[in-house]
Amino acid sequence: MAKHDLDPNYLDPNYEPVVNHSENTPFHQVLAARMQRRTVMKGTVGAALASVMGLGLAGCGGDSDGDSSTGTTTTNTRNPEDTALGFKAVPVSDANEVVVPEGYSAEAFLPWGTPITGGYPEFRTDASNTGEEQEQQVGMHHDGMHFFPIDLKSGGSSSTEGLLVMNHEYINQKALHPAGATYVNGLRPADEVRKEIAAHGVSIVHIKQDSNGTWDIVMSDYNRRITGGTEMDISGPARGFSKLATPFSTDGTATRGTLNNCSMGPTPWGTYLAAEENWHGYFANSGERTKEQTRHGVGSSSRYDWELADPNGLLDAEYDQYKRFDVTPVEGGSAATDYRNEANTFGYLVEIDPFVPEKKPVKRTALGRFGHEGVIFAPVEEGKPVVCYSGDDSRFEYIYKFVSDQPYYSDTANGSLLDSGTLYVARFNNDGTGEWLPLSLEDANFKAKVDAAVARGVVGGIDFEGFENQADVIVNTRLAADIAGATPMDRPEWGAVDPVSGEVYFTLTNNDERLDSQTNAANPVAGNTTGHIIRWSEAGNDHSAMSFDWDIFVFAGEQGTETVVDDEVIVSLTDDNIFNSPDGLWFDYNGRLWIQTDGSDAAPYENNMMLAANPVTREIKRFFVGPVGCEVTGVVTTPDTKTMFVNIQHPDGYWPNANVERPRDATVIVTRNDGGVIGA
Ligand code: FEO
Ligand code: CA
Ligand code: CA
Ligand code: CA
Repeated sequence: MAKHDLDPNYLDPNYEPVVNHSENTPFHQVLAARMQRRTVMKGTVGAALASVMGLGLAGCGGDSDGDSSTGTTTTNTRNPEDTALGFKAVPVSDANEVVVPEGYSAEAFLPWGTPITGGYPEFRTDASNTGEEQEQQVGMHHDGMHFFPIDLKSGGSSSTEGLLVMNHEYINQKALHPAGATYVNGLRPADEVRKEIAAHGVSIVHIKQDSNGTWDIVMSDYNRRITGGTEMDISGPARGFSKLATPFSTDGTATRGTLNNCSMGPTPWGTYLAAEENWHGYFANSGERTKEQTRHGVGSSSRYDWELADPNGLLDAEYDQYKRFDVTPVEGGSAATDYRNEANTFGYLVEIDPFVPEKKPVKRTALGRFGHEGVIFAPVEEGKPVVCYSGDDSRFEYIYKFVSDQPYYSDTANGSLLDSGTLYVARFNNDGTGEWLPLSLEDANFKAKVDAAVARGVVGGIDFEGFENQADVIVNTRLAADIAGATPMDRPEWGAVDPVSGEVYFTLTNNDERLDSQTNAANPVAGNTTGHIIRWSEAGNDHSAMSFDWDIFVFAGEQGTETVVDDEVIVSLTDDNIFNSPDGLWFDYNGRLWIQTDGSDAAPYENNMMLAANPVTREIKRFFVGPVGCEVTGVVTTPDTKTMFVNIQHPDGYWPNANVERPRDATVIVTRNDGGVIGA
């Protein structure tokens, strides 16, 4: 979320509260550790850092860097020319338009409200479309996105026709309705709530390029809206668990809707996983909160007041869609009669098959329950487990990895591979190594830590009496990770896996609350307002390994911010590449790394942007700048890397139409005027 947002509720400090009070990795341990990492930050923002890192480095003789943990995490034998950046960097910009390099073009596509299905109801610029109409139109606040070639299932890789699937993270109520959110006698008009729920979720849009190179919507049966109200199945360990039972599904096997879908991940078998990030803000509990609510920040009121929909004139079944957002236990009630457990059916990765419109989305609970920013799969190998990574985007939260029990075979692979496996959480040691800690009651070490926590009776200030079973571990993934001893990070956002080297990259967007006493080698900046990008290589380059070597790829910041490896300045940011708060991250099919920002849009950075990086040389160039007030989030290309789709979320206004004040989130199509490969 950018600070700059028309949504007044965004300023609610409870929106993304710090809820990890577990104090993993205390300062005295950091100081005691010989900081053998040689990747340090210097430059204009490094003053606070120098005291911490300088102390650590003084004790680092450098002799221990010769083994597994040198500055770069793998021996990368590729030719840096393969991922060279051939364009001229664009300057920072505060213009209310998209800026791309010389020789490139950019055009807005699929703005919020574009009709894509059903009766294809036309968008009305006064925002007077109904909830029912919004259910047939592109949602709001475009975010993570993937392009599925239309012939993917038959082994093809079309770059001229496909299914563009995108998330709609949240909404701007002021823009969504003619006069913003309204209340009558303290209640919300029900159709406003219906429209808000419909503006969330996922859009699947069949698109095709004509002979002139113009992309259009194909009116086909693939086109589909999945919203905050769509019926979904629950699979994996938490399926059927008592804490997921609701009046809608008394056996805890189904729920309605996916919310706050930030980033995503395409699976190796051609489906789409939408991440549920800040779902906690949609629920209200005015009574006593459970530990699974407290550890996620569910509060006494909700962000959009959907639970206050006016029931007058609604059928019971209609009202049920809204009242479920009030998760307060009713006196004398139960999970079968009130929605005390509704929030426990959110916080997952949701699998959607874009090629099978009649198939219900499935919440894959084995991948954990937290503020999933997104998910990224490691390259698959026949006969080996499926591995994917997911970050929990909140200050001091963690990075997770899932390893399937069953091996991958391309002929038979499907989503059931994600239903059984082990969920791990990352510990980043100060010497540049790291470990994956299993969150499984079958693991003796984890079980012993859980038992010790039960004996203490408290975890991070939350009363703790143990886990009922593995389903309970999943529902309380954050608490389980606290107990395991994971490293609290500076807000893990998107991950990306280098298709050539196999290295895993994660953006750590910022963490203004990290104190000096809470720094460590992987999160070395106190009051980290600009963020950094971390990367690691799994032991033996095996993604199911239990250990890894990590490195900081780059520190974001102002001109002169340096990333120093083994006393050599590898990156020193200039006018061509200053950036802050890296968020979106994606390797294209040629191995160029794309970095998107969601940060301060004041000088010297100005509007949010997207940069390209050469992962071999760490050369970084600004490629794209968004309009005023937006964040730039979501990027994918066609397989030939000649059409790029980039999402613009929450522009301020007069964009994409400079004559219309009401802003519309939109996808931007970027092409090279000579038809060449983007970025080359
Ligand atoms: Fe939805 Fe973490 O940004
Ligand atoms: Ca963000
Ligand atoms: Ca965001
Ligand atoms: Ca994000």
